[in-house]
Order: sequence, then structure tokens, then C-alpha cells
Amino acid sequence: MKKVLIIGATGQIGSELTMKLRGIYGSSNIVAGYIPGAEPKGELKESGPSEIVDITNAEQIAAAVEKYDIDTIYNLAALLSAVAEVKPQLAWKIGVGGLYNTLEVAREKNCAVFTPSSIGSFGPDTPHDHTPQDTIQRPQTIYGVTKVTGEMLSDYYARRFGVDTRSVRFPGLISYVAPPGGGTTDYAVDIYYSAVKGETFKCPIKAGTFMDMMYMPDALRAAIEIMEADITKFKHRNSFNIASMSFDPEIIYNKICEYVPGFKMEYVHDPLRQAIADSWPDSLDDTCAREEWGWKPEYDLDAMTQDMLKHLRAKLL
Ligand code: SER
Repeated sequence: MKKVLIIGATGQIGSELTMKLRGIYGSSNIVAGYIPGAEPKGELKESGPSEIVDITNAEQIAAAVEKYDIDTIYNLAALLSAVAEVKPQLAWKIGVGGLYNTLEVAREKNCAVFTPSSIGSFGPDTPHDHTPQDTIQRPQTIYGVTKVTGEMLSDYYARRFGVDTRSVRFPGLISYVAPPGGGTTDYAVDIYYSAVKGETFKCPIKAGTFMDMMYMPDALRAAIEIMEADITKFKHRNSFNIASMSFDPEIIYNKICEYVPGFKMEYVHDPLRQAIADSWPDSLDDTCAREEWGWKPEYDLDAMTQDMLKHLRAKLL
């Protein structure tokens, strides 16, 4: 039986992953770690244990691991790419200092660790189309620098100390539950909110800018399946490219228009987000994840759009 601590349990990924893991492993076995000011609410709060766990505080991580006899840590604490550019020191403190704290606790207490990497770990020198698993990673954002460091540090702890670290490079994640906030791919979430509210969407990313995206149910499944996978088949650990769809603003806009006729979009240039988006891949090659642990996405743009609109209409209207 897994006993899991989720650090960042009230964030974009954490709020959904916590509930999904509680459904699989039993509510009392999944501890929601949060920071003051981001307390769990509603079902997330009522359905299982929660603890204050600030990733920059190693003692808090160790105390939660000890109290609940944790064997697996999902480290989901991070600042997303655009907000990290505004607060680069904090992004490093959380992304790298926090990961170091987590890995040290995992080393001492024998825990497995999942830490997401991202399409943001690549840079302008990376091949942009069908970006290979093993390729140039020279990101130009602090977010990317923390992600590449995280991949290498996680591999180091596996090799040097035998800590069972595993991870994926997430595309931009799209969900109707918790808003992302501060990312470059967020436009692909915001556009659905505008469509459902009947507002004109102001798109910060230029037409023709392709990025990998993924619907949250696929992302959650990836995070769970990689931690359950047979490690003997792995040639990689940190971090696997995973992919399901790649589009530019025109493609997602036109897809939404199929279901929301008359929906309007205009472009409002955002130099920071555009520069970040331009430095990231257009589409990832996820062959290694498919071969080494059976990764397979379920949602394409059409299926995601129908599901997003259905749930957002129920939530907002
Ligand atoms: N969604 C993230 C961002 O835009 C990338 O992984 O920052």
C-alpha cells in the first residue's frame, strides 16, 4: 500500500492528483501538503489528511514523512515560467532548494520521488519539431534552468544514493478545476473560460506559435503510471517526454468555434510570454515513454474541447 505526501497539493496539478490518488490508494493514505494561504478547501480538505509542508523547510517535509510513514512524495511545488521571470530568486529557492530538501528527506527515509519537468526545460537550440528525448537542453528562462537542474539532481540521487526518482516533462496542462496562473501555456486554459463566458478572448501568444499541450486527466494518469511502472524496463528516469497534442492559437480557437459559434479572439502582444513560447519546442517525441513504460494519451484536441466546455458550462453558467 502506498502512503503518499503531495507537496503543493492545492495547486493546479496537486488539487486534482490528490483526489485521484485518494480514490486509488484510500483517502487516509494520501496527505495533502500545503503552504499557509493556500489551505485545502471543500472536498480536498474533508476527504483526507493535510499538513503544512513548505518545500523550503526540510524539517516540515521530514516531519510529515515520519508522521504518516510516507513512502512516495509527489513534489508539485513550483512557480510557472512567466511568474518565475518576475521572481527568479524565489523560483530557484522553490524549484531547486525545495527539490534538494525533498531528495534529502527521501534519501534518509527511503521514499520514491516524482518531480515534474516540463517543455520549459528546452531552449532555442533544441530541435523544435519532434524534440527527441535526449537532446540539447539550454533553456533561457529561470523556470527552465530549475527544471534541467531538477532532472539532473534527481538522476544523481538515483545513481548515487539509490533514491527512486522518476518524472515526466509535462506539456502545458489544461483543466477546468484549478487555474494555472503565471505560465506561458495558460492561454490555452483561459481561452475556454472566455468562450464559455461569452467574452472576446485576448490572446497573448501569436498565431503560428505551436506548443505541446495535454488535458489534465492524461497528465494525472502519466504521473501515477510512471510511479507504478516496472523500473527494470527503464532506460531513462528524469525526465520522460510525454505528448498528446500540439497546436497554435488559431487551431484551438477554430476548434472551440465548432462548439461556440460566434466566439471572438484578438491578439494582444505579450513580449515576455511570446519570447518564452518561441524558445520552447513545437512538438515533443515521446517514443521513449511509450516504449519504456507504456505511455499513451487518451485525449486529443476535439475530445478535450468537448469535455472542457461541458464542465466549464456547468461550473460558470
Ligand atoms: N505550463 C508551464 C508554463 O507555461 C510549462 O510547463 O510555465
